[in-house]
Amino acid sequence: MAKSKTRCIGVLTSGGDCPGLNAAIRGVVKAAIGSYGIKCVGILDGFRGLVENRTIALDDRAVSGVLTMGGTILGTSRDKPHKMPMGGKVCDMTAVAVENAKRMQIDCLVCLGGAGTQKNANRLSVAGLNVVTLPKTIDNDIWNTDTTFGFDTALDIASEAIDRLHTTATSHQRIIVVEIMGHKAGWLTLGAGIAGGADVILLPEIPYDEEKVAEHLLERGRHGKRFSIVAVAEGARSLEEAKAAAEAESAKAARKKDKKDKKDNRDKKPKDDHEARAKKAAEIDDDYTPTETVMIKRGAGAPVEATYHSVQEPKASRLARALQRLTGTEARVTTLGHVQRGGSPSASDRLLCTRLGTTAAELIAAGRYGCMVAVKGDDIVPVPLDEVAGKLKLVPTDHAMVRSARLVGTCMGD
Ligand code: F6P
Repeated sequence: MAKSKTRCIGVLTSGGDCPGLNAAIRGVVKAAIGSYGIKCVGILDGFRGLVENRTIALDDRAVSGVLTMGGTILGTSRDKPHKMPMGGKVCDMTAVAVENAKRMQIDCLVCLGGAGTQKNANRLSVAGLNVVTLPKTIDNDIWNTDTTFGFDTALDIASEAIDRLHTTATSHQRIIVVEIMGHKAGWLTLGAGIAGGADVILLPEIPYDEEKVAEHLLERGRHGKRFSIVAVAEGARSLEEAKAAAEAESAKAARKKDKKDKKDNRDKKPKDDHEARAKKAAEIDDDYTPTETVMIKRGAGAPVEATYHSVQEPKASRLARALQRLTGTEARVTTLGHVQRGGSPSASDRLLCTRLGTTAAELIAAGRYGCMVAVKGDDIVPVPLDEVAGKLKLVPTDHAMVRSARLVGTCMGD
């Protein structure tokens, strides 16, 4: 067995779950214990568990039989160390998280999560904790990795759903607007839309014109097509919505700059490089989905606080009403929602998770911290975490997949 300076690693899953989390945990743990003799500790419910010292032993037995299991055996939450609801207030618990990890003798914390988790993990790294991350999300929107785990499984689920919607849409001569997850990125909708043969694909990256979409559907009718499938990303916006959002964003940016200028003037130069990096990490705004603090009951104890995404209305409903009005064709909405995140991971995701998890263990054993384990072509490689944090990988509007969709006659809404 190879000897390593790293003696103990903590593993946590944070943000929305997805198929493959357990396969990735298993990859990390089996390789860490079996090949390098490193002890593993599981931290429960994301960063909240680290702050509250809630852990489980992650030994070989704990990860046995989990390769094919959906969800996460560690539980997850959307709580962030630097903005954590605690006793009725939102507190910066970064120092507590770092201190707890050190007290547990964790030499490196492995964080499995999406774009938000990459930022939060980077904050802990800046604050002095050794961190390695894995790219998890059905959205496929993490910067500096070709793909993320969970995406392939969600793509299969969404594509199959579109297949099934075809038959019922034909029977009733309806427009079916199917809303697909993906947050601010259109990868999942684009992939599933192409694979499922959607007639219209609407992405957050390409604001759509309702009238053009309606005209495309009417044209299909003139060619004898009895139904239409519109695949719409949850983050897709009409031209008007995109304009209003851009105006709101620039007003927010101006307010933020003003506040920062005033603060910079107050404390002039940062004391050292460490502080400058910490400031940079803290500036990154990760509240891109409305959240709220709620009291939840876990087990027998008193209710505790948690950060939740606010419940959202399906955005596709407004679009379906507009298309029904503009085309005179009956429209229905199907929101795929969390079905896309449930169940067993695809074979491809199991393979990817095992490669990512075992590579993470290899890197940690060699003392390589401060990185995200990324997919680059056929390789699994470390990339600096601070280059990933705070960025989103969106669909380029001239991406080859967008071109292919257009070439098979799909309306992209523009
Ligand atoms: O990031 C994964 C994701 O499923 C997004 O596609 C979606 O916007 C969000 O999480 C939904 O979050 P929640 O599970 O809090 O509803």
